[in-house]
Amino acid sequence: MKVTVITISDRAFNKVYEDLSGKEIISILKDYDENIAINYVLVPDEKDMIFTALKENTDSNYILTTGGTGLSKRDVTPEVTEKFCEKELPGISETLRFESLKETKNAMLSRGYAGIKGQTIVINFPGSVKAVRLCTKVILPILKHGIMMINGESHHK
Ligand code: MTE
Repeated sequence: MKVTVITISDRAFNKVYEDLSGKEIISILKDYDENIAINYVLVPDEKDMIFTALKENTDSNYILTTGGTGLSKRDVTPEVTEKFCEKELPGISETLRFESLKETKNAMLSRGYAGIKGQTIVINFPGSVKAVRLCTKVILPILKHGIMMINGESHHK
């Protein structure tokens, strides 16, 4: 399994602070399965750069993004992801918001999108360490099944 983690943050990109949420996703994935190949990309909240980062990583089974899902003018991650994807996976984003709401009512403010481009599943997480800790753990149980389904393998119980 190959996973690309894209951190989308003006401030992390400009080294105003360290990208802790991208690192947290990677650490949880490695703990889950050390054989997962992980690629890491850091971009600012720029539509073109986000789109290019998505496009360059369609050899991954998953692209997990963190950041840019909120309400500020610079937050454009969901729009770019939706434009990039061919199909939506609403169950994933609904579940992330549902589980996150148990942690904070502010989860209502995340506009994160999930969808499919070719054979790649793209999922937006919010931009905090706390949020990605929860969201990464929420999707772990479906990671392997998601790849099987997208590759058209039969659904055996
Ligand atoms: N989801 C979880 N699980 N935990 C959180 O702390 N923070 C929320 C929300 N989702 C949060 C969360 C907040 S405060 C915001 S503004 C939105 O995600 C959007 O965050 P982003 O702009 O960093 O993507």
